[in-house]
Amino acid sequence: MTTVRDIKAKTGEEPITVLTAYDAPTAAICDAAGIDAILVGDSLGNTSLGYENTLPVSVDDMAHHVEAVARGADDPLVIADMPFLSIGVDERESIANAGRMVKEAGAEAVKLECGPHTVDLTERLVQLGIPVMAHLGLTPQHVNQYGGYPRQGTDQEAAERILELARSHEEAGAFSLVLEHVPANLAADVTAALETPTIGIGAGPDCDGQVLVVDDVIGLSEWSPSFAEQFGSVREEMTGAIEDYVEAVESGTFPADEHSHEEDDLEELY
Ligand code: KIV
Ligand code: NA
Repeated sequence: MTTVRDIKAKTGEEPITVLTAYDAPTAAICDAAGIDAILVGDSLGNTSLGYENTLPVSVDDMAHHVEAVARGADDPLVIADMPFLSIGVDERESIANAGRMVKEAGAEAVKLECGPHTVDLTERLVQLGIPVMAHLGLTPQHVNQYGGYPRQGTDQEAAERILELARSHEEAGAFSLVLEHVPANLAADVTAALETPTIGIGAGPDCDGQVLVVDDVIGLSEWSPSFAEQFGSVREEMTGAIEDYVEAVESGTFPADEHSHEEDDLEELY
């Protein structure tokens, strides 16, 4: 069982490996491959649920998929992403939603897209026993504010704001910090300034760990961001398998004798 303490202990010693997953078989494969932590990201919206962005993802959606991942994964730390407006509107509601991920769905930590509004909440959740992964830089729940998914922290003032928020979330007790789509030198500076492990995505090589969306890593996505790398071609593999199946059924080569069983004792019914 990987715990938040194990993640902290790896910091600066060994790279921390994080990958998203949304279902039990993918979680089991991540586990067998030696992934340290599985993030059930609200990227679920873009990937498995087919939405245009993460905004429609509900707490029920997240809980449902966190449950599946928790059933599939033994060793990796399971982290539940908190979807749009499930935290930050009202403290009681935020705690109830985050608590549900741990108490009912089987997560061991939650991730919050962060800003000045999540410092106190992080502290409160940690006090209550819910480990928090903070997330700064590009926070996709702000897509309508950004007008897309532009790189963040690209000028001095914005970079300083990110560093300051990283420090305040460390102080609030976050056990790790995702840095998404920021300049590599900013990510390196934040990593150097914090004891808390930084987990980069589109943030260069100097973070304490890396995270990517599993659909991008295995080559299932139709489109991937430029900072991702395809390590497989599952889309091609699936397409081939499904085309072959269609063709086999249509041509009558499936099912064959080896897939069928006749019962000798049955008499003809008509
Ligand atoms: O939802 C997600 O998958 C994420 C990671 C990419 C950090 O937030
Ligand atoms: Na997310």
